Amino acid sequence: MKELDTLQWRPALHYTPQRNWMNDPNGLVYYKGIYHLFYQYNPEGNVWGNMSWGHATSRNLLDWVEQPVALAANRTEEVFSGSIVVDAHNTSGLGSAALPPLVALYTSVYKPGSGHEPGVQAQSLAYSTDEGKTWRRYAHNPVLTLDPESSHFRDPKVSWYAPGGYWLMCAVVADAHVVKLYRSSNLIDWTFLSDFTLPDIPHHGALWEMPDLLPLPLDGNPANEKWVMIVNVNPWSIAGGSGAMYFVGRFDGTRFVPDDVAPAGSDPVRWQWLDHGADYYAAGTFSNAPGGKTVAIGWMGNWDYANDVPTTPWRGAMALPRELALKTVDGRPQLVFAPTESYASLVGRSPTTRIAQVGLVSSTQALPAVTRGVVQNIELTIEPGSAHRAGLVVRSSADGATGTRIFYDTQAQTLTVDRSHAGDTSFSRAYSPQHIANLPLHDGRLRLRVVVDRASVEVFADDGRAVVTDLILPTLADDRVSLFAEGGDASFRDIAVSDLSRMRQGRAHP
Ligand code: FRU
Repeated sequence: MKELDTLQWRPALHYTPQRNWMNDPNGLVYYKGIYHLFYQYNPEGNVWGNMSWGHATSRNLLDWVEQPVALAANRTEEVFSGSIVVDAHNTSGLGSAALPPLVALYTSVYKPGSGHEPGVQAQSLAYSTDEGKTWRRYAHNPVLTLDPESSHFRDPKVSWYAPGGYWLMCAVVADAHVVKLYRSSNLIDWTFLSDFTLPDIPHHGALWEMPDLLPLPLDGNPANEKWVMIVNVNPWSIAGGSGAMYFVGRFDGTRFVPDDVAPAGSDPVRWQWLDHGADYYAAGTFSNAPGGKTVAIGWMGNWDYANDVPTTPWRGAMALPRELALKTVDGRPQLVFAPTESYASLVGRSPTTRIAQVGLVSSTQALPAVTRGVVQNIELTIEPGSAHRAGLVVRSSADGATGTRIFYDTQAQTLTVDRSHAGDTSFSRAYSPQHIANLPLHDGRLRLRVVVDRASVEVFADDGRAVVTDLILPTLADDRVSLFAEGGDASFRDIAVSDLSRMRQGRAHP
């Protein structure tokens, strides 16, 4: 497909590099008023390879500015995923009290001639003393290897464990379904703490990647802190292919113990997921985020078909940053998700069309022409009534043949995003048609926020109790919104469609 044709899929709200391939978010850190997003990047081309760390910065998690490549693959190694911390007290000795270093822990993947078996993975360190602009590799890398060396030991995520007064690292042995925990006083010398794994891995053959371990207050009560372990798993996700699962439990400074784990052999539905869509992977959280917030970013992609997504000259986008909270829902602690305040405020100042109520009986109704758009925030409450299915179609063509259907199924009590007729679906046989979240209604109504960007939908359901993130590839002409009820009546209330098309990536920092 020609470059001009695919520019219609360049997101306005989501970060993409100007050119070339991108996957996992890396080194998410906030420092001196700037959010840094590093990421797996191929500086040489538009498919996965030559893995390096690309870099973008933002003041508000919404306007991103691409920066020069931070850590490039070289003669001896490729640079796989990892994390960054602010070494405020210069524990590493790599900066000074006046100029505390930013310290990155990343995975070295060794090449022939490196002195390691080709393909071996180990954890290495790089640092910056100019607020993240330029990066130097530590002279005595790697800082952590397995014995015997492994070619699946990767994705170090480092945080400060305040109760113990030490740095904590989790990293995976991806093919062994193990998260390994380590501690350090200086980010250089690491001591093994424990392994986290499951007694009966339900998904042999899948990889565990990109772990994250973080504390969150339950129901906003700081006296009731729980720990959340995020494990990205590929394939075997709830929507097929790659996905982000999590466990809620306790951490005593050495060991993470989940509160409850689905029985052996159970279906992915029994596990907990950050997202129920096909395109949310490698999710991790920001270090040093202001205001005590926990903000996550995931890669809006799926390894099943990521290399085939027909965009050029770039391939890969990040999902919207989200705030995470832990809430008791249906009797158990669960993550809930909200777009960031900066996103909510963008919606608040954008032109918005409001419709108080629409009632439908087994029919479809287009919303007025003023709601047409390809970059929009749609909020509404659905009361499914006697309908079997009730919902909306976004990015719909004039004849309704093309569109992404988002609906509630009253019998199954599920929310579905159906992208089987969303536009171009031909680029990969692995591009899955439907993604479903279990969502029993609490009071017969469902509140939805749908974020539509040129090549994606993100559906936040019921105050962020479930999110479905999916890539879609419609044409610019597919810009209509409609509502529908099947097999009975349904009511739609408090509909608000905001036009966010004035948003544009890549501007200078305000
Ligand atoms: C996850 C992942 C990581 C690895 C990186 C390589 O998507 O496979 O485990 O570090 O991507 O690009």
